[in-house]
Amino acid sequence: MDYINIALAKGRLGDEAYKLLKAIGLGESIVPESRKLIFKDEERKISFVYVKPSDVVTYVQNGVADLGIVGKDVILESDNDVYEILDLGFGKCKFAVAGIKGKKTYKKDEVLRVATKYPTIAKKYFDEKGQKIKIIKLNGSVELAPLVGLSDVIVDLVETGNTLKANGLEVFEDMFGITAKLICNRVSYRFKYDRISKLIESIKEWEGMYY
Ligand code: PRP
Ligand code: MG
Repeated sequence: MDYINIALAKGRLGDEAYKLLKAIGLGESIVPESRKLIFKDEERKISFVYVKPSDVVTYVQNGVADLGIVGKDVILESDNDVYEILDLGFGKCKFAVAGIKGKKTYKKDEVLRVATKYPTIAKKYFDEKGQKIKIIKLNGSVELAPLVGLSDVIVDLVETGNTLKANGLEVFEDMFGITAKLICNRVSYRFKYDRISKLIESIKEWEGMYY
């Protein structure tokens, strides 16, 4: 029997995904605290790879992974074509435009400097509003940008709001909410349909699903 290959995101979302896999009896082979990147469950014929969140979609798109667990943020930002089969409910947070507290002074006819890890999402959002922007692409810690004068605002994920607060920033505009998704390679979905459907069913029965 072929393996079912699942790509998981390193970091916060990967930890949540691991809890889900454990709960449905599929995480036995994973040692989360180890530095290993690949885990094989020979008995159940499932293997797991840990990759950067933004690479999960690439692995699934190329069929190297049949399934992946990744945030909707990453899916929206990538231009890959994968099948989103299930909303997993965890990893809940929102996209927001934020900036220095009390300094929401930007105007439509001025070019707004937007620092973000998500240029595609930010561009689409402001295009739809008719706001001219200049994107400043960063790879993390974007909250710093307005503080040092690199940008006027940021477009980023907000979960608890602690990072914004700790840096004297506030939400200017809520954009939209996101969660973690189970994604599938389109060809795998056809050729490994039975095993993939079974896996989806057991996730749906998982009681953490609706929290
Ligand atoms: C994410 C996000 C925000 C923060 C939101 O950053 O980019 O900065 O978490 O969470 P909070 O509202 O609960 O504070 P992350 O820690 O992933 O680091 P990075 O942006 O540097 O990659
Ligand atoms: Mg951050």
